Amino acid sequence: MDIARNPTSIPGNPELADAAVEPAAPETIRRLDYTPPAWLVPEIALDFDLGVELTKVRATLKVERNPDAAADQTLHLCGDNIAVMELLVDGKPAEGWSMSGSNLLLPLAGERHEVTVETHLHPATNSQLMGLYASNGMLCTQCEAEGFRRITFFPDRPDVLSRYTVRMSGPKAEFPILLSNGDCTASGEGENGTHWAEWTDPWPKPSYLFALVAGDLVARTDTFTTMNGRKVDLAVWVRPGDEDRTEHAMRSLINSMKWDEEAFGREYDLDTFNIVAVSDFNMGAMENKGLNIFNTRYILADPDTATDGDFDAVEGVVGHEYFHNWSGNRVTCRDWFQLSLKEGFTVLRDQMFSADMGSEPVKRIEDVRILRAAQFPEDSGPLAHPIRPDSYQEISNFYTATVYNKGAEVIRMMHTMAGPERFRAGSDLYFERHDGEAATCEDFVKAMEDGAGLDLSQFRLWYEQAGTPRVTVALKHDAAAGTVTLDVKQLVPPTPGQPVKKPMPIPLKIALFDRDTGSHDGERTLNITKAAESFTFGGFAKPPVLSANRGFSAPIQLESEATDADLQFLAAKDDDSFARYEALQQLFTRELLGAVEGGPDETRRAAIVEAMAAVIDDRAIDDMMRGELMMLPAINFLIELAAPADPVALHEARERLKAYLGTRLRDRLTALHDRASTIPYSLEADSRGARKVKTQALILLAAADVAETAKRAETQYRAADNMTDRQGALAVISGLDVPARGELLADFHARYAGNALVIDKWFAIQASALRSDVLDAVEALAGHEDFTMKNPNRVRALYMTMAGNPSAFHDAGGRGYRMIADLVLALDPINPQTAARFVPWLGRWRKIEPVRAELMRAELMRMAAVKSLSKDVREQVTKSLDTSA
Ligand code: TRP
Ligand code: ZN
Repeated sequence: MDIARNPTSIPGNPELADAAVEPAAPETIRRLDYTPPAWLVPEIALDFDLGVELTKVRATLKVERNPDAAADQTLHLCGDNIAVMELLVDGKPAEGWSMSGSNLLLPLAGERHEVTVETHLHPATNSQLMGLYASNGMLCTQCEAEGFRRITFFPDRPDVLSRYTVRMSGPKAEFPILLSNGDCTASGEGENGTHWAEWTDPWPKPSYLFALVAGDLVARTDTFTTMNGRKVDLAVWVRPGDEDRTEHAMRSLINSMKWDEEAFGREYDLDTFNIVAVSDFNMGAMENKGLNIFNTRYILADPDTATDGDFDAVEGVVGHEYFHNWSGNRVTCRDWFQLSLKEGFTVLRDQMFSADMGSEPVKRIEDVRILRAAQFPEDSGPLAHPIRPDSYQEISNFYTATVYNKGAEVIRMMHTMAGPERFRAGSDLYFERHDGEAATCEDFVKAMEDGAGLDLSQFRLWYEQAGTPRVTVALKHDAAAGTVTLDVKQLVPPTPGQPVKKPMPIPLKIALFDRDTGSHDGERTLNITKAAESFTFGGFAKPPVLSANRGFSAPIQLESEATDADLQFLAAKDDDSFARYEALQQLFTRELLGAVEGGPDETRRAAIVEAMAAVIDDRAIDDMMRGELMMLPAINFLIELAAPADPVALHEARERLKAYLGTRLRDRLTALHDRASTIPYSLEADSRGARKVKTQALILLAAADVAETAKRAETQYRAADNMTDRQGALAVISGLDVPARGELLADFHARYAGNALVIDKWFAIQASALRSDVLDAVEALAGHEDFTMKNPNRVRALYMTMAGNPSAFHDAGGRGYRMIADLVLALDPINPQTAARFVPWLGRWRKIEPVRAELMRAELMRMAAVKSLSKDVREQVTKSLDTSA
């Protein structure tokens, strides 16, 4: 067992050591069991004596009884892997305290007391990256969701809000920069080359928003003046040498601050806003009050090292964390079941922000693609849960695409139903009503009802029921009456613990097109509320073409009886960009699923070629949209539709369709690539669009003519003055059997040696290659000197990419499954939170054909048999094997 996870290795803590011998059976926490805290902590003072090997923490808590809770004489303080070095109550040694597992129970007689506790931390051995840990010699914290209890004993639950004062001291040479939440209120020199700083955060906050950073950092600074004239000092802190790659992050921050004022009326509320980039980080970033901490991959960007997609991700995540200042920090969550209250809403806000900064229709297509690739499989599998879950064992496992992305879709539907002005009135009321509080999803829904004037009684089902509704639409034309009737049926599939479902309210945007004129008589939003219902529209002498779920107005799986001709019509004519994309995707999907069953359909393939040609020729759309329309559906989305799927057969069908398109459209694609290659690099939309279509053209051409395309891609690689072109070309070449392959991969590695984020790309490019020997490559890369299990970005670059590459993961003999299970077992003792994120890939066995499904299950059983599994991995493995659902 790893030292960082073994409480018995803590000196002087016999109670904790005894409790840790037999791991307790995982406890299930239930939403309906919520009770308010018996004690509140209005104030806390923290004093850190910093060191990478040993950090001493003294916490002084002002505690008082909660008048709104049942009387309890005992103060419950959470702890995790920490020991009590000293405990005082009102300045005197505490009496009668005890440990319950790793938590501290302290009986208190009075109404209010001052509790002081000292703990000793070992940041250098904290490989879980939760609590206080060391990364490249600097110290930083991650407290959400339950990391604060790894720093000190505290009621570590989001409904306990405290005012924080933080003092820290340490060697000045090692930690020249000392940061925490709020504003710096004092600082000075100490003895023996030490210095100290004091930070005060005037806003009461839950412990998960506490943060501290100490290290050798340099900043890009700027200022922002808020709408009411508050001048805010901004800083983006990075390791020396990285400062030239922070311009885009700073610009994104300033744009976010301005946007939140304009779009939501939200103003920043401190004199300081700090961002720190850290290379060892479990997730994307963290919204700690006034001190956001980021994974370097969502901060560092310049044209030479970051793709256009990376630039977008930086903008989106910087926005996301900034927007949490209101949706998350000023209004926080009562308990972790309410996580979507802050995450769903904040994802919607970052999506709206990115749409406003770039292209709204392209952003919508990208967001739906992510939802379908990540959330739909979750919602139809063994780990399905409502956006507001009812129970959990380990909360870290519920930072999911469902809570985040489906959560955003649910609030987006409110926006659709209310319209922008009324939605804004609803959000204004929500912020006003709950400012300074720990709120619930119900509070949000109620504020939307009151402020936006919506009746959301049935709509609350979106918070309660898991599963993606399947909606079938069928159009019937009555020539005599000149009417058309739309029959809509819905089915919400059973999910674990929810065998029977109620019909959902669904705002379904439709338009009815005239086949001859190519136009429609206006968009309608239908309010679907029943399992089956019909809508009749007059004024249709001829049968119209149905365009449904326009803009993806609801997170549903839509099935229609549209003919290929209808889809081809919509792919060419629909004035809703999403619907146009969707029509093409449906054509592709039909062809691919059909090809696996009975071979390609020549008529449909011809229609697809025609539709794709029209997309390439259409001068009315920009290249950003063109690139989007040219993408074939992902295998992981097709697996959902084909279940039980043969992923390799799907992959092969997809490759054949690419080859067919590449052959039939060769002249158009080369002309497109030639034209786009003349456009010089910039971050403007036309230049970004050119790079996008270039890579899409290469992908299709490569399937048709290996030698020619390899030359073209090599030329693009060598001529590239930016990462988008270079990575796009290399990704195409790495899938081909050409001599340039090894040469260019070596060139890329040499060129970027020492740049961790680009070396991650080098690993990922090889793990995503559509080649038969990719598992050999992954195995070899795991032994490469640049590989380490200690850095989550590196582990994900190699193994998450492989797991998402169907031709590798679903290798016929089960080798891909075995490699992922081996990884989980090896990573679990180091970093359980990151290890648990790989389990859902194996949990999808029910969607896969029986032979592979059995191999996947066998790996889950092998993991389940390991006694020392973390709570994180144990929960995911057990649920993935459960066949009761
Ligand atoms: N709240 C973070 C966000 O913005 C998520 C997060 C960051 C997180 N680090 C974490 C969640 C560690 C759990 C554990 O979405
Ligand atoms: Zn978030």
